[in-house]
Amino acid sequence: MNTNKIPVIAIDGPSASGKGTIAQLVARKLGFHYLDSGALYRLVALKAIQLNADMQNSGQLAEIARNLNVYFKDEQIYLDGKIVTDDIRTEQCGIAASQLAAYPQVRAALTERQRAFRQLPGLVTDGRDMGSVIFPDAILKIYLTASAGERAQRRHKQLIEKGMSANITDLLQDIQKRDERDSNRSIAPLQQGADAKLLDTTSLTISQAQDTVLSWYNDILAKTRV
Ligand code: DC
Repeated sequence: MNTNKIPVIAIDGPSASGKGTIAQLVARKLGFHYLDSGALYRLVALKAIQLNADMQNSGQLAEIARNLNVYFKDEQIYLDGKIVTDDIRTEQCGIAASQLAAYPQVRAALTERQRAFRQLPGLVTDGRDMGSVIFPDAILKIYLTASAGERAQRRHKQLIEKGMSANITDLLQDIQKRDERDSNRSIAPLQQGADAKLLDTTSLTISQAQDTVLSWYNDILAKTRV
């Protein structure tokens, strides 16, 4: 089957905007597959940290990305056969991921791995360039965001719930720095594409955000059926 016909909902947006939570819920509701593309960049970062790799050496980092031994099963992420679901969520991994994501060779090494998630009956994916680069023919593209202050609060809550230590002021600074780096890099920068719908979740509940995405998707389906 021509995989280009398999529907993709691409949700891009800045760090800690809640796009992962919403994407996962929408995927579950529709019975679609789910790809957290940020997890792949975080996995490369974790592996690079484990290997004590040189974070300036794009060739070495791309090699790590190409050879990443990873699989996703039952909402757990395995690296070299070991569960690393929580290990990749640390701020250290997030910052390293943002740095190595600026290298074109690293991004290229992850492109096909991401496209392979496009399987029947459909895919919901989140990241920075899902609609612009990886799945430019996605049926629905969303730019999901929230104010930096709200995102810092959400990340803080998430880390505390996982039993990790966190400080709001540091988190806000990290989020602002990460936004700056992700938005200003020359390749696949974080930005709202002209064909992406804006979903600002600053004052929305998770359920309201989920319902908005589902109603946009249903509108598209209704139009394509006519
Ligand atoms: O979504 P996240 O915070 O888990 O992503 C971690 C980093 O990975 C983010 O700062 C930038 C990078 N990333 C990217 O460049 N492109 C993607 N599609 C997803 C993430």
